[in-house]
Formats: sequence, structure tokens, C-alpha cells
Amino acid sequence: MTDQPGTADNGGAAFENMVSLLDYPMFVVTTASEGHRAGCLVGFTSQTSINPPKFLVGLSRKNHTFTVAQEADHLAVHLLPREELAVAKLFGGTSGDSTDKFAQCGWSPGPEGMPILDAAAAWFVGRVSKRFELGDHVGHLLEPVDGNAPEDLGELITFSDVRDIDPGHDA
Ligand SMILES: Cc1cc2nc3c(=O)[nH]c(=O)nc-3n(C[C@H](O)[C@H](O)[C@H](O)COP(=O)(O)O)c2cc1C
Repeated sequence: MTDQPGTADNGGAAFENMVSLLDYPMFVVTTASEGHRAGCLVGFTSQTSINPPKFLVGLSRKNHTFTVAQEADHLAVHLLPREELAVAKLFGGTSGDSTDKFAQCGWSPGPEGMPILDAAAAWFVGRVSKRFELGDHVGHLLEPVDGNAPEDLGELITFSDVRDIDPGHDA
């Protein structure tokens, strides 16, 4: 049965092949709570509503960022221009468990105390309105409260730019 189209057995393999071929935008999601800052590279995202605007971010339960986000009311979502690959590697290839990422990049405190990265091509801060169990990731539904985006974003970092980064944390 494993090679029959549409069976549950080959669904997992087909799905993995399919998503490995997609090229979607990557984000760095930061947050802060109780004096701790955190952030990681994130690919599991989607806008889920136009009016009111809502955006879903999937954070792995094992990530340092998730632990800090559990106590936070807001997240900051950043898009990075392609020339900022080093920042993507910092946030995707190292963990806040052992590395102070914010000592190694430019940032400033933004709305709701969220750390805003200097490297961002565009960003928004969203209030976490709901959290959902989504498997090994937890969905954080955001309602944008502030942000900054130019008319033209230029070339952005996408999955194909970062797929070879060894994640700083097991998923
Ligand atoms: C291509 C790629 C996509 C990733 N997507 C996500 C994601 O959607 N959600 C997530 O929580 N972590 C994702 N990660 C993993 C984290 O960015 C990575 O483990 C990071 O080092 C965790 O840092 P932290 O422990 O400081 O939170 C991704 C990593 C890579 C390389």
C-alpha cells in the first residue's frame, strides 16, 4: 500500500517532498518578557484574516523563544533583506539557551517593549490573541498593533536561502 497514490502511508513522504520544494518567505520573530529577550528564524507563518488583520506564527515548544513567548503578550515579526543572511543564521542557527543573539546584532526597543532588529526590511508587532496546539509547534495568533514597512521590500530572505542552516535547537 505504501506506493499507492493518496494513501495515508505515502502521504507523509509526499508531503515532505512537496514542502521541501516550496520557497516561502522567512521571518525572524522576537519577543521579550520579564527582562528576557528571545528570537528565532521562523518559516511556519500565515496571514489568516484580512479584517481584522491576523497572522499566525508557529513556534517550536523546544525553542528558547517559545519559553520566553509563553510569558509575553506580544511578538515582533521581521522580514530580512537578502543581504542580511548573517542575521538569519544567528537567529536560526544558534539558541538563546546558550547564545546572547542580541549582543551580536543591532536592535532597539520598539512598541510594547519588543526588540526590533536594525536589519529588518519591514516589521510589525502583534498582540498574541490566542495560542493553539499545532503538533510539535504552538500557533501564536497575532493582531498587529504597530510596525514599519516601505513601499518596496526588494529581495527578501526565503526558505531556499536558509534551508541548509542547521537549526540551533532540535524541533
Ligand atoms: C529553515 C528554518 C526554518 C525554521 N522554522 C522555524 C519555525 O517555523 N518555528 C520555529 O519555532 N523554529 C523554526 N526554526 C528553528 C529555529 O529558528 C532554531 O532552532 C533557532 O536556533 C531556535 O532558537 P531559540 O532556541 O533561541 O529560540 C527554523 C530553522 C530553520 C533553519
